[in-house]
Amino acid sequence: MFGWFKRNKKNAPTASSAVPVITFDGPSGSGKGTIARRVADALGYHMLDSGALYRLVALAADEACVALENSDKLAAVAKQLDVRFEANGAGEEVVRLNGQDVTERLRTEQTGAGASTVAQIPAVRDALLARQRAFRKVPGLVADGRDMGTHVFPDARLKVYLTASAEERAKRRHKQLKDKGLNVSLAALSRDIEDRDRRDSERTVAPLKPAMDARFLDTTGQSIEAVTQTVLDWVAEL
Ligand code: DC
Repeated sequence: MFGWFKRNKKNAPTASSAVPVITFDGPSGSGKGTIARRVADALGYHMLDSGALYRLVALAADEACVALENSDKLAAVAKQLDVRFEANGAGEEVVRLNGQDVTERLRTEQTGAGASTVAQIPAVRDALLARQRAFRKVPGLVADGRDMGTHVFPDARLKVYLTASAEERAKRRHKQLKDKGLNVSLAALSRDIEDRDRRDSERTVAPLKPAMDARFLDTTGQSIEAVTQTVLDWVAEL
């Protein structure tokens, strides 16, 4: 099992392009983040949550009072992003922007909508490209986003495109927010998800779409364990 994974770990390739990458793309709420993290943990790989970078640009812009329409200034914000991903004492990830803990703010619906807006700007996407590719380190990388397989890591070893019905995605998000004690209406969430899907799929640069060589996985009605296992089986086949 995981033959190429073990081989790479032992022989520790130095050229970045020789480091295996597994990409997860798909719409909001398809389960990408959760499944990507589980697969990364199972393989002992690094993890890139590319959505967090777009969210950080939206937050940094807000803090610097830069309007989400100001392409030039947003690109500068994206280039200068001072961000650190750390683990706290409990092993949970803490995200710091300009030294400040923004872990909670990063996950709000408002930040997600801001991220989707700044992500439409080509100069912002360009500014984040090298930063994303720098996550590719031995023994390997699991990258989660919208354009991981199509644009950022076109040579990935395995490209997974996760989907789920819009209804199920809204329900999942609703449950997540409820568990955090936040009360948001399901109807409002469904509308937000539809708006975000439209923006992410219809933008001209690196829109959300499956790579030609992606493997599809519909997670509707499937458990996290079952989906993770399917992907690990695909990895074992490589
Ligand atoms: O995965 P997420 O919800 O954290 O992403 C937030 C937004 O960032 C998403 O609506 C679109 C954008 N995004 C993107 O355009 N490209 C990526 N690779 C990741 C996210």
